[in-house]
Amino acid sequence: MYKDIEVVFDESSEKYDYDVLKNLSRRLMYYFIIEYLLMNFKKEEIVLDLGCGTGLEAIPLAKKGINIVAVDVSQGMLQILKRKIEKYQIKNIKIHKLAIGEISSLIKIYGEESFDGAYSIFGPLNSEPNIAKFSYSLFKLLKPKGKFVASIINRWYIYDMLKFKPRMEFGKYKDILFKYYTPFEFILSFKNFRLNEILGIGIFLPQPKSIIKNEKLINILFKLDKHISKRFPFKYLGTDFIVNFYK
Ligand SMILES: C[S@@+](CC[C@H](N)C(=O)[O-])C[C@H]1O[C@@H](n2cnc3c(N)ncnc32)[C@H](O)[C@@H]1O
Repeated sequence: MYKDIEVVFDESSEKYDYDVLKNLSRRLMYYFIIEYLLMNFKKEEIVLDLGCGTGLEAIPLAKKGINIVAVDVSQGMLQILKRKIEKYQIKNIKIHKLAIGEISSLIKIYGEESFDGAYSIFGPLNSEPNIAKFSYSLFKLLKPKGKFVASIINRWYIYDMLKFKPRMEFGKYKDILFKYYTPFEFILSFKNFRLNEILGIGIFLPQPKSIIKNEKLINILFKLDKHISKRFPFKYLGTDFIVNFYK
């Protein structure tokens, strides 16, 4: 069931960091997310990274003393993460080659209520076919009051709607089928959790393929996004949204 995801990300693993970070808008969104994760997770906590990829989030968080258990289906992506762990001599990241829908197997290893929190950044949950099973297992793995932060690719992206080309329910990236969630639809899959907040990201910030390339303007639009990220209706209208739940 996860073979397509594995193959696609294995193939793009070597160039992944460069492809993501070469674009200013993506970089700004990435820094915003790191800042947000560091506001939510603290030194010495044990936190699950779901769809960790090459460790773009895991490495900076581990360097701040947060203990990371990183999960991904792609061996290629995990291989890059392993290289970084060796390079920076990081001791507080553990890796499991696992699909997000299969994290119930972590209960046997770590036990129930063993994690202070979990996060999943830049869309791994959009390509997880078994969200209900995942939600159930995550609830078991988290300690009471444990946090879950996820950035999800949004079906209600303002820019596409203004172009009269709204995103459909499903999309394809190479061979991977993924689902665009509306914020409400996503929240419904996590009924056991309590919602802390929702934020929009990439609302007016031009996306990588945009014709807007002026860096000054991009920085101004990013500041505007930061200002309105928690405000109605903009929090529902970014290219992605961040959900922040607790158990
Ligand atoms: C777009 S990358 C994001 C990686 C990282 N979180 C980041 O911000 O750079 C998506 C990653 O999630 C992984 N992934 C996608 N769907 C997954 C699933 N259902 N289970 C586990 N990993 C998944 C992919 O292999 C890939 O490494």
